[in-house]
This record gives sequence, structure tokens and C-alpha cells, in this order.
Amino acid sequence: MGRMNTLILGIETSCDETAAAVVRGGREVLSSVVYSQIPLHQAYGGVVPEIASRSHLEKITGVIQEAMAKTSIGWADIGAIAVTYGPGLASSLIVGLSAAKGLALALGKPLIGVNHLEAHIHSVFLKPDALDPHEAGPMLALVVSGGHTCWVDVPQAGRYRVIGQTLDDAAGEAFDKAAKLLGLGYPGGPVIDRVAKQAVRADAVTFPKGRPRPGNPALGEMTAEMCVSFSGLKTALMYHLRKHPPAPEQIPEIAAAYQEAIVGALVDRCDTALRGGRYCSLAVGGGVSLNGRLRERLAEVTAAHNVRLLLAAPKDCGDNAAMIAGLAGVGCGVTGDAAFRLDVVPALEIGKKS
Ligand code: KG4
Ligand code: ZN
Repeated sequence: MGRMNTLILGIETSCDETAAAVVRGGREVLSSVVYSQIPLHQAYGGVVPEIASRSHLEKITGVIQEAMAKTSIGWADIGAIAVTYGPGLASSLIVGLSAAKGLALALGKPLIGVNHLEAHIHSVFLKPDALDPHEAGPMLALVVSGGHTCWVDVPQAGRYRVIGQTLDDAAGEAFDKAAKLLGLGYPGGPVIDRVAKQAVRADAVTFPKGRPRPGNPALGEMTAEMCVSFSGLKTALMYHLRKHPPAPEQIPEIAAAYQEAIVGALVDRCDTALRGGRYCSLAVGGGVSLNGRLRERLAEVTAAHNVRLLLAAPKDCGDNAAMIAGLAGVGCGVTGDAAFRLDVVPALEIGKKS
């Protein structure tokens, strides 16, 4: 694959992080700048699209300049500009895509359009001691973020087939909604992770196990054993809180039980996919992969199946542009004139170009 030593400037604005990074050869991160808008959205308990796009517009130029300034290279050294064109919020994606097209045209550089979810999978390869992505397969990948939860068959680098997913809420969304109900603030994942650690027991409350009903039409080609459904979980929490208003000291036990239900469902689907014995590695990317309990359980399940567990460095788990520049740097993404004709694709799926 080409681009092996190319320096790529990556740009990412799919949700509420404005990010830019410079990566060499798809692996070596020279700089990675992430401006998080979390404080702007906190008062609303979730991302407000209009606020997000306006903030991207204000910050994008400074974030790109900072990513370049943190390296010792100049614009002439940049070999290509890579950018997320989906999935994500249309009004956020368009800011990054327009900036990238403008820069590439002004500088006379190639443009590479990147799928945000495929980039989350690549984030596990951004460490100096990480495997070469071409040597990690066949690989099972789990993407767990605020907007997505899916299991992907990656027979070789750059080839993807979704084999399982959530039929409703993403895992991160389930954490965020629970934290709101428990009055713990936004984003919910980190705070539930922290509060659950104070619990003496994780089985004080019984939550549904996230299993979809077999025959659910939303399953499509996928099997119920490889899919999850998290919407019933937050409803169960809501009814539990109504019926048994908790004293403050009971919150950690509720958080721990809720976390256990999500983590249990995620790990169970990994176990099912690994049982076939096809995979050498399990790669896990996305904001929820920061969860301490999930990391613990993933280590157990991969050890039991004798496969390598590939996790991203904590700074690369959430949305960032190093994963965008990185994936482009190993030969993936939309290139040539087609890249300049790209429009944002808010519902872009893994393994698809449009
Ligand atoms: O990948 P990400 O930064 O953005 C999206 O593409 O969505 O993921 C954000 C999600 C949020 O829902 C947040 O609550 C969750 O990741 N998250 C966590 C943890 N840290 C972030 N969930 C569970 N445990 C954590 N430690
Ligand atoms: Zn993401």
C-alpha cells in the first residue's frame, strides 16, 4: 500500500470535538489537538447540533494551526489532507469537510475522505509499540461510542463487514441517559465508571441483559446473539428510580449494576464472535472503550480465547484526528477527484463509501 511514509494532516469535526493531527505513515503521531466542546453542551445534557457547528467554525482554523505548530514540519512537507466525511452530525461534518477541501485546493495537495467508524478501529494502531495493521488479522473489532455500537469482521486491513450492532441506543448513549436520570451530569460514561467503583456490590439491582428479541425485524441479516438492545435498560432504570427513590449512598450500587448490564452485554457478544476461533485479535475503539470494567472483562474474554486484545491509548479512544490521518496513511479512504466531489454522509456505514 502507498502513503507509507507520507505525512498526513487529519481533520475531524463529526460531533462535538474539533480536532486536527499530523501523522506519519499511518502510525506515528507527530501532533494531535482536540478541542472538546463538552462545557458548551453540559447545560443541555447532550450535544446541541447548532452550538456544535458554530463552535467548529470558530475553532477549526486555530486547531489546525496548532496541530501544525506542534510539529517541526511545514506545509510543504504535508503529503495529503484527510478528513472525516461521515457518519456524524451533518452540520458539524460540513465544517471539517469544507476546511479540508479548501486547504487541499489552496495547497495543491491530495484530499482523502475517511469513515469515522473505520478510523476508531484504526486508533488501536497509533501506538509506537502497536502491531502493524496488516499483521493483526483476521480481526474482530468492537466500536463503542456515544453514537455507535457495532461488531465488525476485519479479515484484513481495510476490509470491513458489520456482524452485530445495537438495535437502538449506543452503549455511550445508554451511559449518558442513565447519568442524567441519576443526576450525575454529562457525559455519563466517565462519571458512572468513577461512581461505580465506590459500590460494595454490583448486583443490588437487576437490569435487563440487553438481548434483542429473536425475530426483531431490525436485526436484518444479523443474528440476535450478535446484537444488543439497550433502550430497555434506561426504561428499567427510570422505573426503578420512581419505585425506589435512592438515598445518595445507594447511587454507586445502582450505577455499578447498570454498568455491569452494559459491559456484560458487550463482552458476551465478543465471546460469541470469538467462539468460532477465526480471529487473532480483538480491537476495541471509541469513547466507551475507556471504561475500566469493560477493559477488565475484555482482558478476561480475550485471554480465554487466546486472542490479542488491542486497545487504543486513552487519549486516542474518544474522537480525535490522529485516527483519521492514521487510517488515510495506511491506504484507506476515498481519494483522487472523487474525494473533492464528496459530500457529508451523516449515516455512513462501516465498509461503505456513500
Ligand atoms: O467516541 P466518543 O468520544 O464520541 C462519539 O463518537 O460518540 O464517545 C463518547 C461516549 C460518551 O457517550 C461517553 O459517555 C462515553 O463515550 N464514555 C465512557 C467513558 N468515557 C467516555 N463510557 C463509559 N465509561 C467511560 N469511562
Ligand atoms: Zn467517534
